Amino acid sequence: MRELALNILDITENSVKAKASLVTVLVQARNNTLTIRIEDDGCGMDAEFLARVTDPFTTTRTTRKVGMGIPLFKMAAEMTGGTFDIRSEKGKGTTVEATFVLDSIDRAPLGDLADTVVTLLGDDKGTEFVFDIRVDGEKFVFDTRELKKELDGVSVTEPEVLLFVRDMINENIKSIGGEKL
Ligand SMILES: Nc1ncnc2c1ncn2[C@@H]1O[C@H](COP(=O)(O)OP(=O)(O)OP(=O)(O)O)[C@@H](O)[C@H]1O
Ligand SMILES: [Mg+2]
Repeated sequence: MRELALNILDITENSVKAKASLVTVLVQARNNTLTIRIEDDGCGMDAEFLARVTDPFTTTRTTRKVGMGIPLFKMAAEMTGGTFDIRSEKGKGTTVEATFVLDSIDRAPLGDLADTVVTLLGDDKGTEFVFDIRVDGEKFVFDTRELKKELDGVSVTEPEVLLFVRDMINENIKSIGGEKL
């Protein structure tokens, strides 16, 4: 089964392509629900395009005629008996929210979220990210703006920085009990 961390990478890459300056990713496990919400302040979509965007044949890609990021994320959530919602406003931004039934046998594992973060950081296009991860009462927030402040001019794309970020995120996810997701 595909990892949800890869769906998160797909959806956040859409936000980067939409020239978002900030993308906020919420991953919240509570009771028997896993909620994943990706919110951006990018270019958004008009109502007509938005209505078609869960159809694989809706894309502004020029390299191929299908776009799978959104349809696959929707399917992954709905397969578990969960829900999917996308809201967007032209010029303002987009919010994608999927809820998963946590104990469904059809739910993909969260997978390597640290790898998703490191991939996004590694091709720094000027978009900032907040990852807000909550497991029951515990939470961990990673904010690239805070990281950049601490780096004091050192690039986030430096291999040592990416390795540090990967370890730090893995440790924090573990410490809030998120590795079992
Ligand atoms: N956050 C967003 N802001 C603005 N437009 C978006 C956003 N997410 C998706 N879109 C638009 O919806 C289209 C479909 O997105 P989707 O992720 O399903 O496929 P894709 O990005 O075109 O291709 P793929 O994800 O397979 O590489 C995109 O081409 C883009 O035009
Ligand atoms: Mg996409």
